[in-house]
Amino acid sequence: MAEVTQEPQRAQAGVNEAGESKLKLWLKDRYDFSALGYLIKKKEVPQHRHSIWYYLGGITLFFFIIQVVTGIMLLLYYRPTAEAAFESVQFIMTEVKFGWLIRSLHSWSANLMIGAAFVHMFSVFFMKAYRRPRELTWVSGVLLLFLSLGFGFSGYLLPWNELAYFATKVGTEIVAVVPFVGDFFLKFLRGGEDVTGATLTRLFGFHVAVLPMICTILLMAHLLFVQKQGMSVPPQFERNDTKLKAMPFFPNFLLRDLLGWIVALAVLIAAAAIFPWELGVKADPFAPAPSGIKPEWFFVFMFQTLKYIPAKVLFIDGELLGILAFGVGGGLLVAVPFLDKNARLGKSSKLFTIAGIVVLIYMIAMTLVAYLLPQTF
Ligand code: HEM
Repeated sequence: MAEVTQEPQRAQAGVNEAGESKLKLWLKDRYDFSALGYLIKKKEVPQHRHSIWYYLGGITLFFFIIQVVTGIMLLLYYRPTAEAAFESVQFIMTEVKFGWLIRSLHSWSANLMIGAAFVHMFSVFFMKAYRRPRELTWVSGVLLLFLSLGFGFSGYLLPWNELAYFATKVGTEIVAVVPFVGDFFLKFLRGGEDVTGATLTRLFGFHVAVLPMICTILLMAHLLFVQKQGMSVPPQFERNDTKLKAMPFFPNFLLRDLLGWIVALAVLIAAAAIFPWELGVKADPFAPAPSGIKPEWFFVFMFQTLKYIPAKVLFIDGELLGILAFGVGGGLLVAVPFLDKNARLGKSSKLFTIAGIVVLIYMIAMTLVAYLLPQTF
């Protein structure tokens, strides 16, 4: 009896027996939403004593989104020429409503994003989350880190202030020592022999077009791999067949991820408002380099290392040796999932854990030495 009376009501409401609307039926008929359905209804996140690290990727993503939003806002006023860049940033900071805050948010979030990406990388490294089947998640992650460093390097020059000008000069000079291709890369980065307005326009193009495009594609691949494979479980739990509790991705894990975003936002706003990013003095290419010029903190460990390498090692130029070593280091980083055979076989790979700890201590020590011990670059 009830069925009979509900039919006209359902037809009136435009829903079928299962209560699905015509629009939903139309969409279901054309698109496969099963992956979304799985995400909302079935996807789970393993719970164990290292689960806290699962939030770092999300926090890095949050800062990336802040970069895109504040970057577009800055673009509305920024002018990428040596004549107008510094003045346009000054205008943003003094004339545009909350311009100083948007610029400060962009600068602070850039540094927090790179910091979060490093913590995310080391956390997935020590949790061996790069082992089969997540090799490409790792590779896309390392490339995302390199791109983040590229964002930092290209963005640094855009205010065209003294510090950034001379740091970019030193940074681009380093690639020139690489045999055969060094000179090409120097001219490619600088848009000529020296750091000029052409360098500014070129790095601006990288910063707002080339890097964002490549980064977006890599990030989508990275997140797709994560959604497809779900979160990894540290090998020690897998080996002992430990029965782990799991939490539904939606809404539990997602809400906690959002809580992480709110905490990250609070830290970001506090830093940007209490320690607004300074502008400094306009770059003067004819002025001598001020003493104590430092590259940005995430490059400092490399620069400090190059200082300790003697000018000549046997018959090889010391700086060249250093750069080649960092190049090989970067290559090894990408190849970690393919080099760590034990992790691939589900065995413990203590050697890689120790190597990771040594690299982490080396990077922190070199950075601290550079900031704490008086020196010039
Ligand atoms: C812009 C930079 C990056 C963003 C936005 C990002 C984002 C994410 C997100 C949202 C997740 C899922 C949640 C989580 O595990 O935290 C994730 C997982 C992962 N990421 Fe990243 N990531 C970035 C850089 C990196 C880097 C530098 C690496 C390694 C070198 C990396 C390797 C991984 C791996 C292996 C996983 C899987 C973790 C697991 O299954 O347990 N990511 N990433």
